[in-house]
Amino acid sequence: MTFQTQLRIPGPTPLPERVVRSMNRPMIDHRGPEFAAILAEVTAGAKRVFKTKNDLLLLTSSGTGGLESAVANLVSPGDEVVVALCGNFGERFAALASAYGADVVRLEFEWGQPVDAGDLEVILQRHPKARVVLLTHNETSTGLTNPLRELAQTARSAERLVVVDGVSSISSIDIETDAWGIDVAVSGSQKGWMAPPGLALVSVSERAWVQQAKARSPRFYFDWKEAKTWADKGMTPFTPAVPVAFALQEGLRMLEEEGLANVYERHARLARATQAGLQALGFQLFAQDGYRSNTVTSALPPAGLDVAALRKLLDTKYGVVIAGGQAKMTGKMVRVGHLGAVAEGDVVQVIWAMEQALEELDIAPADGRGVAAVTASVQGVAAAAR
Ligand SMILES: Cc1ncc(COP(=O)(O)O)c(C=O)c1O
Repeated sequence: MTFQTQLRIPGPTPLPERVVRSMNRPMIDHRGPEFAAILAEVTAGAKRVFKTKNDLLLLTSSGTGGLESAVANLVSPGDEVVVALCGNFGERFAALASAYGADVVRLEFEWGQPVDAGDLEVILQRHPKARVVLLTHNETSTGLTNPLRELAQTARSAERLVVVDGVSSISSIDIETDAWGIDVAVSGSQKGWMAPPGLALVSVSERAWVQQAKARSPRFYFDWKEAKTWADKGMTPFTPAVPVAFALQEGLRMLEEEGLANVYERHARLARATQAGLQALGFQLFAQDGYRSNTVTSALPPAGLDVAALRKLLDTKYGVVIAGGQAKMTGKMVRVGHLGAVAEGDVVQVIWAMEQALEELDIAPADGRGVAAVTASVQGVAAAAR
């Protein structure tokens, strides 16, 4: 019997009660003072999370819309664009650039491995005309966080524009947009922000604006200039996802009440606990040690386990929803999300349910070792902090 679904996918993430309540109100005029105040608060709060003094635009779209806006505003057909990729979201970024007619230069790494800054430097030397570099901060498909500071600084030193997909990292994993030289960073409301899907957050540097004025891709809905002109008047060019803005305002307040350093530390703690629990259950962590994500853990199943059967049982009997692999890893991997409104007890619950399910699927006895490993991880962290 389950009373509430435990959403342990890497987004959309669970909504805290405060966030749900924030949306339970009548609609407002999106061109009136009330919305202007919300837009101002959300923009200022998001800038603190991004650690940027650059412009920050709110676009009504999923994260991909934010990424598409970056390509549409910065890339002209025929331009060389370097895309560093090590998973499915990097692939998508490359496909997006191709769709806009870019001449995509792929710097590709095995799934589960991070992008290497030395290799990025070499490829940039070989392609001096590539103005724009597309990077993925947190590769959600493999549960890996790239060494973004190093990568961004490498691209910046080579005088390129640095565009970062931070959809599944920003607000859960630290980013220093300005200090690391990131020109454009993109996130999505349904991830660590604890809000529903519907708003993309995009930061745009001065250098990016200069390129924006020169780039010649067709753009309309995602024209940054329009977004900025209207934002300066407390509005968006088109009707925004108003209820998601209510939610984002509340989610941001909660992040700041907890304190960003504490939020990042909590995500690190949950990642370690999830890794410990999955390993104790016989799963093999997929992403390279040292680069494992604090928002999503990917793991290969123990021999004989049918991932689809596991996910179905978890969902129908235990109310726990986890993700599987994407693209070439479909059916070969589990991915457990632990970003946003997630605490230690939620990790205990997912690992407990997985342990029960493994017994029911005749893979291993439910002897409590998964939960014990999670508890030991959490207590070890607590002891170390004392
Ligand atoms: C790293 C990354 N990039 C892009 C996206 C796409 O975002 P959306 O589904 O909001 O368009 C996701 C979504 O999971 C993601 O994790």
